[in-house]
Amino acid sequence: MKRVLVTGAAGMLGSELLRRVPPGVHALGTDLVTRDGLDAAGLDLADSAAVDAAWGAHGPFDGVLHGAAWTAVDLAEEKPAEAARANVDACRVLATKCAQVGARLVVVSTDFVFDGKQTKPYVETDRENPVSVYGRTKRDGELAALAAHPRATSIVRTQWLYGPRGKHFPRTIAGLARTKKQLKVVHDQSGAPTSTLELAPALWDVLERGEPGIYHAACGGACTWFELTAEIVKRLGLADVELTPCTTADFPRPAHRPAYSVLDSQKLARLRGRPLADWRAALADYLVCEKL
Ligand SMILES: NC(=O)c1ccc[n+]([C@@H]2O[C@H](COP(=O)([O-])OP(=O)(O)OC[C@H]3O[C@@H](n4cnc5c(N)ncnc54)[C@H](OP(=O)(O)O)[C@@H]3O)[C@@H](O)[C@H]2O)c1
Repeated sequence: MKRVLVTGAAGMLGSELLRRVPPGVHALGTDLVTRDGLDAAGLDLADSAAVDAAWGAHGPFDGVLHGAAWTAVDLAEEKPAEAARANVDACRVLATKCAQVGARLVVVSTDFVFDGKQTKPYVETDRENPVSVYGRTKRDGELAALAAHPRATSIVRTQWLYGPRGKHFPRTIAGLARTKKQLKVVHDQSGAPTSTLELAPALWDVLERGEPGIYHAACGGACTWFELTAEIVKRLGLADVELTPCTTADFPRPAHRPAYSVLDSQKLARLRGRPLADWRAALADYLVCEKL
């Protein structure tokens, strides 16, 4: 792999992908105005003519890491067409382009393709049944990419992301824990908090040597948002905040969330010869390098 296009490079995951480019690879990011970016803020990946033009001007690319997406889960309920344009049409456009030129494609997807009714970790072959507009658009994006470029597309589903850039749960909790004496946190949703510091190198490995098809990629273990909060406040030395567990029903949101969406990432571990770190170890690593 010599030249790789990273989409969503200004986002939480895309920015980390650009910081972890393997030796010998030249990576360019969309929507990141830097020396290494396409300087194409506003490039709409759902517009095939715009993608063709950017490919012509900055390509050719022999691989694409597609991290761009509509990630506003609740807003997607109000704006399903806009969410589908970003999450489905962009996958189809990029996969069609990659198929034309014989490039590898890795599409980042989500645990929200599942309904959360299972009680054991989801494997790649478990049936998708999204319960939100966001989840449906991500599932449809997976299908569109695999249909347009079945020979060289890998889908990588991940969950509960946090990292050095962007807005995410650990950052929000750190802010709240410093300003409030008491916090109520949801204790009936389970997943695996996953650091972009762990995930980004795994995505580069899938691009380089993954098989076509689906991989799950999450940190090891599982917890609820309440348990994650307890770990964050303990590690930040803010343990005097009083934490109270509550239910999803106590915090009604426009989009349904899967109650249990832990991903089984053993297939990825076999590809790489090791699993992603356990969620507690990955969180500790992240908190060492990040001042929250
Ligand atoms: N965050 C999580 O907890 C989580 C969990 C599971 C899976 N994922 C998946 O992981 C991937 C990365 O998520 P993230 O949290 O890093 O997202 P993010 O921070 O919201 O970044 C997404 C990026 O995509 C860009 N984008 C959206 N629509 C676009 C379009 N039509 N054309 C060009 N660029 C577009 C956004 O640009 P603008 O800001 O300019 O719109 C943004 O820079 C996504 O596929 C997401 O579905 C995330």
